[in-house]
Amino acid sequence: MAARTLYTAGITGVGMSFPEKRLTNADLEKIVETDDQWIVERTGIKERRIAEPGTGASVHGAKAAEQAMEHAGIKAEDVDIIMVPTVTPDMPFPATACIIQEMIGATKAWGFDLEAACSGFLFALQNARAQIESGHAEKVLVIGTEVMSSIIDYEDRNTCILFGDGAGAVVVERIDPERGGIIDAFNRVDGTGARFLNQKAGGSRMPATAKTVADKLHCVYQEGRDVYKFAVRGMASATSDIVERNGYTGKDVALFVPHQANIRIIEAAQRRVGLEDSQVAITIDRFGNTTAASIPSALRVAYEDGRLKEGDLVVLCAFGAGFTWGSTLLRWTAP
Ligand code: UT7
Repeated sequence: MAARTLYTAGITGVGMSFPEKRLTNADLEKIVETDDQWIVERTGIKERRIAEPGTGASVHGAKAAEQAMEHAGIKAEDVDIIMVPTVTPDMPFPATACIIQEMIGATKAWGFDLEAACSGFLFALQNARAQIESGHAEKVLVIGTEVMSSIIDYEDRNTCILFGDGAGAVVVERIDPERGGIIDAFNRVDGTGARFLNQKAGGSRMPATAKTVADKLHCVYQEGRDVYKFAVRGMASATSDIVERNGYTGKDVALFVPHQANIRIIEAAQRRVGLEDSQVAITIDRFGNTTAASIPSALRVAYEDGRLKEGDLVVLCAFGAGFTWGSTLLRWTAP
C-alpha cells in the first residue's frame, strides 16, 4: 500500500557498545558437551560478549545511542522519540526507553520499547521512518539493546552457544529527499511460529513462581531445526522481494546487512539474491546472535571498516521469534 509522505527519512548516525568480557567456544566446551568445530561449522560463531550480571540493557543501549548521536552531530536535547527494540528490557516496566532517556538527557523526547525479537530493530526503524515521513518527528533514536545472557540457560547447549550481549543504535532524521534515505520496507508476522521460539514464563500467562524459576522457564526455548527452516525461507524471500520490487538486482546492492543468527541462514539469503561475500556484513563470528542489536551494530562495524558511503544501496533483513521477519532498502546517508 503506497503511503502519503511529506518528508524523507534517512539514517544519519550509527553507534554500538559491547561488554568487554568474551565468552569463547573454548570456554563453552568447559561448560556443556560441545566443541569449537561444531559451533563454527553449524553457526559461524567463535565468541560472544557477556555483560556482568546485573547490567541492564540500558547501559550499553545508552552508550550506543551516544555514539550514534555523535556520529550524526546531534544533541540528546534535540531527540524527539526514543524507540528501544529489545527482548531483555531492564525491567518489564517502565520501558527501557525511559531509563535511557534519563541517562542520555534527552529532555524533550518521548519513547517506548518495542518487542519483535530479532526483527525488532527493523520494525522500530519502520516506525521511525513513519514518524518522520508524516512530519510528527524530525529526529528519532532507534536503539537495539540486549542482555541475552540474562535469559540463557548455560546448561542448554542448544541455545547457550548462540546468543551474546550488546547494543547498536541509529539516528534517523528528516533529510533532503535527493539523498535517498529509507526507500522501502517489508515486514511480516506469523504467530503460528510462537511455539518454536519463546520465553515461557514471566508474562501474564505464566507469572514467575519458585517452580517456573526451578524449571528454567524464564530462559530462551528454541526448537532450532524448525526455526532454521522458516528463517532460511523468510530471510531469502524478504531480501530478494525488496530488491526486485524496487527494480534492482544483486549487482546494485553495495552492502547486505542481515540479522546475525546463523552464517548458513545468511548464506542462503545471499545466494538467493546472487551477492558476493564482499557485499555482505558479517559480525556473527565475534558477537554471536545479539537479537535486536545485531543489525545496528553490524552497520556500525561496516561504517568503521569504511564499507558504507553516501548513496550506497543497503539492504537490511531479519527473522526472529513470533515469527517476525522483514527487510528494509535504503540509500546510505550518514557522514
Ligand atoms: O535469531 C532468531 C532466530 N533463530 C535462528 O535463526 C536459529 C535457527 N536455528 C539454527 O541456527 C540451528 O538450528 C542451530 C544452530 C540452533 C542448530 O543447528 P542444526 O544444524 O539445526 O543442529 P540440530 O539442532 O539439528 O542438531 C544436530 C545435532 C543433534 O544431535 P543428534 O540429535 O543429531 O544426535 C544435536 O543434539 O547436533 C547436536 N547439537 C550439538 N552438538 C554439539 C546441538 N547443539 C549442539 C552443540 N554442540 N552446541
